[in-house]
Amino acid sequence: MKKTALSELGRRVKAPPISWLMELALSRPQLISLAAGFTDHETLPVGPVRELFAGLLSSRRTGQPALQYGSTTGDPVLRQLTAADFSLLDGVLEPRKVHSPDRMLITNGSQQLLYMAVEALCDPGDIVLVEDPTYFVFLGILQARGAASRGVRLDHDGLNIGHLEQVLERLKRSSELRRVKMIYIVSYYQNPTGVTTSFEKKVKALKVLRRYEKAAGHPIYLLEDAAYRELRFRGADIKSALAVKGHSDRVIYAGTYSKPFATGIRVGFGILPESLFAPVLHLKGNHDFGTSNLPQKLLAQAIVSGKYEEHLATLQKRYAHKARVMRRALQENFPVEVELWEPGGGLYYWARLPHSIKTGIKSKLFQSALAHDVLYVPGALCYCDDPTRRKPDHEMRISFGAATEENIRVGVARLGAVLRDLIK
Ligand SMILES: Cc1ncc(COP(=O)(O)O)c(C=O)c1O
Repeated sequence: MKKTALSELGRRVKAPPISWLMELALSRPQLISLAAGFTDHETLPVGPVRELFAGLLSSRRTGQPALQYGSTTGDPVLRQLTAADFSLLDGVLEPRKVHSPDRMLITNGSQQLLYMAVEALCDPGDIVLVEDPTYFVFLGILQARGAASRGVRLDHDGLNIGHLEQVLERLKRSSELRRVKMIYIVSYYQNPTGVTTSFEKKVKALKVLRRYEKAAGHPIYLLEDAAYRELRFRGADIKSALAVKGHSDRVIYAGTYSKPFATGIRVGFGILPESLFAPVLHLKGNHDFGTSNLPQKLLAQAIVSGKYEEHLATLQKRYAHKARVMRRALQENFPVEVELWEPGGGLYYWARLPHSIKTGIKSKLFQSALAHDVLYVPGALCYCDDPTRRKPDHEMRISFGAATEENIRVGVARLGAVLRDLIK
């Protein structure tokens, strides 16, 4: 039979490009993957989690609620604790309305919140502004939804505000502004570039968006993805966009316990403006009517017992060390023509090669790297399909998250040798 029963969404949805890279890494065990976005394996908190589970299940009083369904909003204790920690991070001692647990939703990783935010705001044909480059999994959500995107150039301190204005102005002139629903930024140690957005840039971006709302005819939101915020190893924390006075009603904040604690537990959270809280909550009701109680109760216990803080401190030191190992290897092995973007946290280095050296899957560089058993993420995968510009294809993301120190050294040395061969 020729006809398909699939919905438009079912027909549109595609395998994420990264799944191919992951399969490749799994099928070739000798391959060193500097492509994986996984976190450090050695430090996963097996001991602390074993103790926390034992504690939770040591009595019926604490064990039974953990094994029961919970509420769609999430465990009230975890929401309370998260809100308190988060308002402290943003320098708000008394959780104000913005940082209140009432505006918080616990989710299955922050990924679910990203998905629901797009679901609640975008119809097919709507437009989402994204950083150029951005987190490629988010691009998959937009593509499946049938949403269009426009890239906004990224400087070393976040969005290029002049370019943001240009993009919005162009959309206004072509009468497409009413299709623009939000801008998505990964504001801390961005995936893929490692860039952190300054607070000033958050203020400016929100002000610019507000200026265009009249012509759009509706609010334009800023979705702040703070997945790597806690993985800071240099510099001070920067306040979130929620702390921008007078604009918090336009900010959706996505946070997670995946990176700072354990990716396998996969609990995230969202803070939503009042106007979006109920729609997103109802979508969450349809998805799963609540994240599993067991990991939520476990995390609440991890925070109360101090195990969470302790583990986070270990991770921050670990990634600081691995980033240093990678920096040394890059300095020793990469040709000077390569521009390196150095992160102050997170898991990624970003490398810009001379324009003549392509990094895509079909490129000589990628194929040669593969032949030498080393894998990176081609930069072009991280650029949205923006009809107004070509995708740059001379960049790469290299991660020190999952690889061992030895593999970082060997992998970067192999990549460096391939690059020197091509650049000479
Ligand atoms: C930028 C960014 N946002 C969100 C996520 C999703 O993380 P989680 O769903 O585990 O919270 C990731 C995971 O790699 C990420 O890199």
